[in-house]
Amino acid sequence: MKEYKNYIGGKWVDSVTGRKFEDRNPANWDEVIGIFPKSNAEDVEKAVEAAKKAYKYWKKVPVPKRGEIVRKAAELLLERKEEIARLMTREMGKILKETRGDVQEGIDTAFYAFGESRRLFGWNAPSELPDKYALTMRQPMGVWGIITPWNFPIAIPSWKIFPAILAGNTVVFKPATDTPACAAELVKILEEAGVPEGVVNIVFGSGSEVGMALLEHPDIVGISFTGSSDVGRKIAEIAGRGLKKISLELGGKNGQIVMDDADLELALEGVIWGAFGTTGQRCTATSRLIIHEAVYDKFLEMVVERAKQIKIGNGLDETVEMGPLINEAQREKVKMYVEIGKNEDKARLILGGDVPKGEEYEKGWFFQPTIFDNVNPSMRIAQEEIFGPVLSVFKVKSFEEAIEVLNSTNYGLSSSIYTRDLNKAMKAIEEIEAGIVYVNAPTIGAECHLPFGGIKNTGNGHREGGWTVYEIFTEWKTIYIDFSGKLQKAQIDTWEE
Ligand code: UN1
Repeated sequence: MKEYKNYIGGKWVDSVTGRKFEDRNPANWDEVIGIFPKSNAEDVEKAVEAAKKAYKYWKKVPVPKRGEIVRKAAELLLERKEEIARLMTREMGKILKETRGDVQEGIDTAFYAFGESRRLFGWNAPSELPDKYALTMRQPMGVWGIITPWNFPIAIPSWKIFPAILAGNTVVFKPATDTPACAAELVKILEEAGVPEGVVNIVFGSGSEVGMALLEHPDIVGISFTGSSDVGRKIAEIAGRGLKKISLELGGKNGQIVMDDADLELALEGVIWGAFGTTGQRCTATSRLIIHEAVYDKFLEMVVERAKQIKIGNGLDETVEMGPLINEAQREKVKMYVEIGKNEDKARLILGGDVPKGEEYEKGWFFQPTIFDNVNPSMRIAQEEIFGPVLSVFKVKSFEEAIEVLNSTNYGLSSSIYTRDLNKAMKAIEEIEAGIVYVNAPTIGAECHLPFGGIKNTGNGHREGGWTVYEIFTEWKTIYIDFSGKLQKAQIDTWEE
């Protein structure tokens, strides 16, 4: 049995608590992936101390030098891609094809950060006074608390940690309790790549102990969190009291529109991948399908027929298309929403809604692909994030109604429209209320070098990914250099020849 430790100040150390928790395979709960420390606020205290100390040194290291370490981490991730993907499938259940993609997203993010290490541009602007320069530069901020979910165990921590440290911050990382092994692998890679002691620290444990201690710690300058909107709201409240910088990537209730002129085969592949990929456990997952009435019956039948054939099972089997849900609580939540859907006004359960039958499913948190039709926007299954393989289907009469239905939620992360009409596609891009719009592609599949995030209850205005993540992890300094040799007063002195 593999026993793991926290990583604090460059050393793998036990938690002061001596308590442990188990990490099990959701496709086969007999398999224990590892034993992890169940840490508390005292462990966090030590990690923050180490990160604070390291910050003094790290912020002075030239950015391209930090970049070299990040590049080394990218290379190590690339070398170990297959090994980590296999561990991830065992640890959180999604199929190998997807876990390889997850690791690749981490690799891409690290290489992007390496590239950014020779840019990290500031702006220069003209001054309103002569013989005066006005410049800006980005500066690191201090110790960040990084709190990550289990659905993208390498990609999401990579989105946060690589830019944070590249920019000169140090971090205390609290990964989800469902995916601590992948998180430990990422930290081992950073250690091996040469990240100096204290720059990256990991503390395993629960949100209520480790997470809370980070939120309340006066020496943590910012919190970066990905997870549900409910938890995000609490994080913002608590961390907000300490005026911490807060970056939140929260829930989604993403819709795919299929217009009457769409390529239906293409739209079919899109919705199957979007709704049932990662067993629906993505913040970008397609949980609503909005079909034009002219193709409604035909397209819905195509979706149901295809969804019926999805092969469920252990993701290590390359022929499997959909793995289990992450844990018992998540499966209970999905079951609860199926019951809610069944009792909602006219909604009809037309596929799935249950645990698949068979011996091979007895030791995992499996669930069938599930489809409700006749859904309308006021229903709970139309509004609330389920985070499972449950698709709600809506019939609409027009393009305008499709957009209205798509926009009728409190979330605004991703969206998609399938149409061959350029004018409709362009109008949709304009009118859809979401941070991400796909045309003739599913709601999942964001690329690491572009801004990622959403509007409404999906976040608090930040965008991870690309160049925009550096807005989160740096602060601007504005510099005026006056070489006129006299006092020049902005707004008061006027320029004369
Ligand atoms: C998430 O679900 O939290 O676009 C992130 C996608 C992935 C990232 C998803 N590249 O689906």
